[in-house]
Amino acid sequence: MAARSVSPRQKNPPASSKLSTSIHNTATVLELVAPDMAEVDLVIANRLDSGVPLVGHVAKYIISAGGKRLRPVLLLLTCGALDYTDPQRFNLAAVVEFIHTATLLHDDVVDESTMRRGRPTANENFGNPASVLVGDFLYSRAFQMMIEANSMRVMHTLADATNVIAEGEVLQLMNMHDASLDEEGYLRVIRSKTAKLFEASARLGAILAGSTATVEQACADYGQALGTAFQVIDDVLDYDGNSSEMGKNLGDDLREGKATLPLILAMQRGDATQRQTVREAIETGSIERLLDIVAIVRDTGALTAARQAASNEAQRAIDAARQLPNNAYSQAMVTLAAQLLERRT
Ligand code: IPE
Ligand code: IPE
Ligand code: MG
Ligand code: MG
Repeated sequence: MAARSVSPRQKNPPASSKLSTSIHNTATVLELVAPDMAEVDLVIANRLDSGVPLVGHVAKYIISAGGKRLRPVLLLLTCGALDYTDPQRFNLAAVVEFIHTATLLHDDVVDESTMRRGRPTANENFGNPASVLVGDFLYSRAFQMMIEANSMRVMHTLADATNVIAEGEVLQLMNMHDASLDEEGYLRVIRSKTAKLFEASARLGAILAGSTATVEQACADYGQALGTAFQVIDDVLDYDGNSSEMGKNLGDDLREGKATLPLILAMQRGDATQRQTVREAIETGSIERLLDIVAIVRDTGALTAARQAASNEAQRAIDAARQLPNNAYSQAMVTLAAQLLERRT
């Protein structure tokens, strides 16, 4: 990647380079942390070692497929915003990516998904047992690595986050095929399964930087709001996206009978027939009428309303980021929140 005018270690970038982090330019956000991300990738590669060949094989299979690496980016952006430059940030950025990858390995088994990051899922390729067990390896490797930060606050944050993610996935399992799930119930699931790790990633930046409780809370609020917006958009894209751009199959949520926000809003807004079609699809998990459902979420305005809900969360994230010191990194956090609403991948 091209050299940047704003180096990650530069404390107070001049006004002209601040402007270069213009709103709505994710490329600039990613360039800002590109040198740091290269370090994180080295840590990731170095810490996948295992004496058991299948472990490294499966872990490398999913990790080398890429992914957006959003949680490490978030941690690095908060470190940058708070002027923390110790290499420990690379270690913890790898930790949050390992935890995320472990959840994906398990999630794809639970969801019976066959495509992830543009290739067959690990469960499709190596089977459920290997996916579950390598997911466990990545979780426990993450715990080995986080100890190296030598901070109870760091361990507390990550232990809590991991536990809440697991709760969120179980809660979602309990809600399967429940067409009466409301927005509040949906929000509880996504705050746990997805937003919690975003929240932890941003909070860790503040903990590493030794920030005040107020700044730490602003970071946590930013991460939570961003993660919530991110999952709402993910759920919208399951009806409004493109499989090859997303790198995963669409319609998976319906097949599982997941009452996500587009369906909840469609039932609130639709007429009796539309409501019944959506209800039956959730209860049976049949994707036979996927095209009808796509038309209903569109025609009732449910997709637009769900995108608006994501936008409200993104605005909450932006408000939180604006409480941080004003520099290229906190501006990039604002940019990222605006940009995630437009994502197609
Ligand atoms: C997928 O997360 C799981 C959700 C929270 C929707 P990402 O979309 O961040 O996955 P990768 O890491 O980029 O593949
Ligand atoms: C995300 O949920 C899973 C976790 C955050 C653990 P989804 O099931 O909606 O994610 P995708 O669509 O499979 O990526
Ligand atoms: Mg899934
Ligand atoms: Mg999904």
